[in-house]
Amino acid sequence: MYLQRLSLRAFRNYVEQSVNFEAQKTILVGNNAQGKSNLLEAVELLATLKSHRALKDRELVKEGAEAGQILATVDRAYGSAELAMTLRTSGRRTIALNGEGLRRHIDLLGTVNAVQFSSLDLELVRGSPESRRTWIDTLLFQLEPIYARILQEYYQVLKQRNALLKSLYKSESQSPDSIADQLTQLRLWDEQLATTGSRVTRRRSRVLKRLAPLAGDIHGDISGGSETLDITYRPNVPWTEDDPEQVQQAFLAKLEQRRFVEQQRATTLVGPHRDEIELAIDGTTAKAYGSQGQQRTLVLALKLAELKLIEEVVGEPPLLLLDDVLAELDPQRQNQLLEAIQDRFQTLITTTHIHSFDAQWLKASQILTVAAGTIHTYP
Ligand SMILES: Nc1ncnc2c1ncn2[C@@H]1O[C@H](COP(=O)(O)OP(=O)(O)OP(=O)(O)O)[C@@H](O)[C@H]1O
Ligand SMILES: [Mg+2]
Repeated sequence: MYLQRLSLRAFRNYVEQSVNFEAQKTILVGNNAQGKSNLLEAVELLATLKSHRALKDRELVKEGAEAGQILATVDRAYGSAELAMTLRTSGRRTIALNGEGLRRHIDLLGTVNAVQFSSLDLELVRGSPESRRTWIDTLLFQLEPIYARILQEYYQVLKQRNALLKSLYKSESQSPDSIADQLTQLRLWDEQLATTGSRVTRRRSRVLKRLAPLAGDIHGDISGGSETLDITYRPNVPWTEDDPEQVQQAFLAKLEQRRFVEQQRATTLVGPHRDEIELAIDGTTAKAYGSQGQQRTLVLALKLAELKLIEEVVGEPPLLLLDDVLAELDPQRQNQLLEAIQDRFQTLITTTHIHSFDAQWLKASQILTVAAGTIHTYP
């Protein structure tokens, strides 16, 4: 797929700016705080409906404006598509695809595919299990857009079940009838948690099964075959056979086993919101023992594996967004990365120092300068 054009209106520090992408690689050069990452963020939003830097749409709208907009034209194997996302300081965002408003925003997923790689991604190794769950969930949104719905349903159930557990917790002040009634309700929520939770865990397991060998091979190449990477899915509810019935049974059994503790703590302790994905190098957890360089190599391998997997599943190479990471890699890893992407993936690269790039690379790239929310041809 190829991103032809991107227009930003009242988005972050951009008032009104369009960019036509004219080469397979575009390098965005600029000092700190000029809008380089903001531009990549706009692409990330179109690809995943989320930004890893903003929790609220309000933050994305230019200060002083009420609404901001991202417009894009992307060429796909089956034709080109026009995307429009309008973000508001108050009220819901709106999304249009080829001029038609989408009632369900997740229907936009899959129109643009992108893999983002920034220094924040080191969190994947160093951060909490939640950062690894978010990572695999975001990848799943792109591979199987329906997963966005599945995950949403799960979290809805979790919220309701937690509310019920909180209410039960305060049961001293309630009549026995009301408590009995809530306990019956809890059984129903158990069923719901098992149904929706098993959909989540089965998909996470499947995608990790496909990703792990790709990442392992790439990691072996980068580290010169001297280290092995293991990715292990540790679901909160363990199961063996990928069969809906059996996985649901495993959920119900664990819920039964944890019933007392859950009621004592007044929160749901069972389910994929407590899954872990373990990343280990040569059998030891990368989080605890990996050196900085090892952790970087690991993240690089994961990102390249994502790229490959999306290409495999979607049938077209996704975009690659490299935010400030090239300068952080040593020359050997830089080359590994460049070799892996070659000309196959349209790549947007941000940097503060154009001189850290290989001359041959610069020749083949479109180079743009980003300064205070405006974009010009370099220099
Ligand atoms: N909603 C907003 N309205 C106006 N300006 C904003 C908004 N959100 C962020 N900014 C501004 O955008 C700038 C940051 O842009 P960005 O993160 O893209 O920088 P960058 O060019 O990637 O810099 P660095 O090299 O430090 O990563 C900051 O000056 C910030 O104040
Ligand atoms: Mg930046």
